[in-house]
Amino acid sequence: MKNHLFAIVLIGLTLACSKPETTELTLIRKPYQQSAFGDSLTILWRTDQGEDAYVKYKSNEHDWKTVKGISRSTNVGNMEHEVVLKDLPHNSLFTYQIFNGDHEWKFKDEYTFQSQKTSSDSVFTFFAVGDIGEPIETGGTPDLLAHALKPALDQMDFGLLLGDIIYPDGKSEDYDKNLFTHFDKVFPFIPVYPVLGNHDWHEPDSNYTQEWKLPGNEHWYSFDYANVHFTALDTKNGEMHLYDEQLAWLENDLKSVSDKDWKIVYLHHNGNSCTYKEDYEAVVSLYPIFETYDVDLVLNGHAHTYERLNPMGAEGVVLESEIGDKVHYNAPEGFISITVGSGGKLRGVGSDPKVYTPDPENCRHENLVANAVHDWAYLQVAIEGKTLKGKAIATEDQSVLDEFEVVK
Ligand SMILES: [Fe+2]
Repeated sequence: MKNHLFAIVLIGLTLACSKPETTELTLIRKPYQQSAFGDSLTILWRTDQGEDAYVKYKSNEHDWKTVKGISRSTNVGNMEHEVVLKDLPHNSLFTYQIFNGDHEWKFKDEYTFQSQKTSSDSVFTFFAVGDIGEPIETGGTPDLLAHALKPALDQMDFGLLLGDIIYPDGKSEDYDKNLFTHFDKVFPFIPVYPVLGNHDWHEPDSNYTQEWKLPGNEHWYSFDYANVHFTALDTKNGEMHLYDEQLAWLENDLKSVSDKDWKIVYLHHNGNSCTYKEDYEAVVSLYPIFETYDVDLVLNGHAHTYERLNPMGAEGVVLESEIGDKVHYNAPEGFISITVGSGGKLRGVGSDPKVYTPDPENCRHENLVANAVHDWAYLQVAIEGKTLKGKAIATEDQSVLDEFEVVK
């Protein structure tokens, strides 16, 4: 009997000692929004471990809804969680929270998202900026850019990232340190749509495409937002990825748009420009397509500065009819091209120390530049029906460095 009692006590003690402790999850990457198209939105986040992902969301008009997601291991050994929200009513502001199983106590922060606007709304704002992924240790300023964007988020619907998102070579293991940590008060609130830059172009299908959820093949893709068609291209190292295939896709993509007021193309490398970068012939070779299919605006990064060009035609020459006040454009012929590579790295500073002063007067292209400002800046574009208003905003003090307007 004594032996039996001893055995029972021993088993009890063993069980008590081996009872699993509640595992603590660590939130490695705050939620970020992707593919906010039509009535759908994808929310992603990362933890060190764990599964059972779900999102709860509500608006003033709608009570809390819960949507379950999927969890998968990532290429850097943590867990990615993905929840796709569907059937969202248009143009509403939602509050949302993310959860992993019974660890909800941990992630009770509330974030917001705005569901997509319809064509008839046609009033919205987005930002565009490139070259943001230089680490702070080597002179980059992702923290300043994030700080500048945060107060503007109430008016912003989404952002375009114009390549060179992660220096030095676009590796997945650098995404949190160089990007997501700095933008953890921006990316949970509005979606961003990136393109690949030359620094991102190192095995992008094992790095870049693991980090984003974009349409199509993710190298190039397009989407509609309200009355605007956006087309994203992959310029690789300047020569464009799979040139023939991408060109054919671009032409088809632009040709198929019939009911939008504006067409905007974004890519990393510049075509003709007066910055310190060469003119990338592959990009220049797209100009006839831009003209044929009435592209209005072309946004790029690469040169670490800000430069807005006058409207060009298929030949890459500023059109006679457009040499005017360089601020107001009334139904311009041709397209306006803007370099906004001033997001996190500035020529002449930190790891890019070569002194640079814009000198459009001595440019190889006559009349090309409408305005060039050498400072950290992002571009804000407001669409109001058939009016497009652009502003370059200084990252450091939010002053307006450049302003222009296009009316159709
Ligand atoms: Fe670049």
